[in-house]
Amino acid sequence: MEVIITPDSDAMSEKAADLVTELLNRKPNAVLGLATGSTPIGLYRQLAKRHREMQLDFSQVTTFNLDEYVGLPHDHSQSYFHFMQENLFQHINIPPRAIHVPSGTATNHKAYCQWYEDEIKKSGGIDLQVLGIGGDCHIAFNEPGSSLGSRTRLKTLMPQTIRDNARFFENETEVPRYAITMGVGTILESRHCVMLANGENKAEPVAKAIEGPVTSKVTASALQLHPNVTVILDEAAASKLELADYYRWVYENKPSG
Ligand code: PGA
Repeated sequence: MEVIITPDSDAMSEKAADLVTELLNRKPNAVLGLATGSTPIGLYRQLAKRHREMQLDFSQVTTFNLDEYVGLPHDHSQSYFHFMQENLFQHINIPPRAIHVPSGTATNHKAYCQWYEDEIKKSGGIDLQVLGIGGDCHIAFNEPGSSLGSRTRLKTLMPQTIRDNARFFENETEVPRYAITMGVGTILESRHCVMLANGENKAEPVAKAIEGPVTSKVTASALQLHPNVTVILDEAAASKLELADYYRWVYENKPSG
């Protein structure tokens, strides 16, 4: 696991955009796994800017989003589909048919989730998966207690997640109780996982995920089992890491090639 500590959230987003840019330069038809939430907004802004100013090309890219609220149609203002359109897709040249966001209105959840898994496989698998981390240490909506081998499925959200996300809704009662989410096992099959975190409220979840024991109570800790993870943090999110100075030293002395 590589841990990169950047001065602020803008630098975090730039670094993440660099990784996506390098991938697309190397593999124009890459498969990207995408996340929603406040954390990746700066990354998406950077990607849109690079598309506009540097012709970063998404015409051959395929995307899979991590999760979606159950019950919210695509055009709902708080659906993750809508979020992705607003923050990224409408600003880049990705063909609509290459975009996959789990459907919040699917009726047969089991069959739908299997279809989503199959689509990921058919695409050749995710090359780079963008991840945030929740206050309850989740990745995607894999709440504490989720199996570390879990696949895409319906998940009941934790009260803490509902409270955390209530800021986007009129009030807490409007936050959906369920989501469709890629599983931890699905995420671990991505070739490269890139977890972003910024702000003081992420310091503890980040420390637990990176330096704590691997446990289903902290689903982000499963990333310790993955051979290719980059964690990009701002100073505040890195503030509770015991080995922060060491991570800085390793990054400063990174061998070339
Ligand atoms: P946030 O959410 O980026 O809005 O903090 C992260 C998450 O819940 O995964």
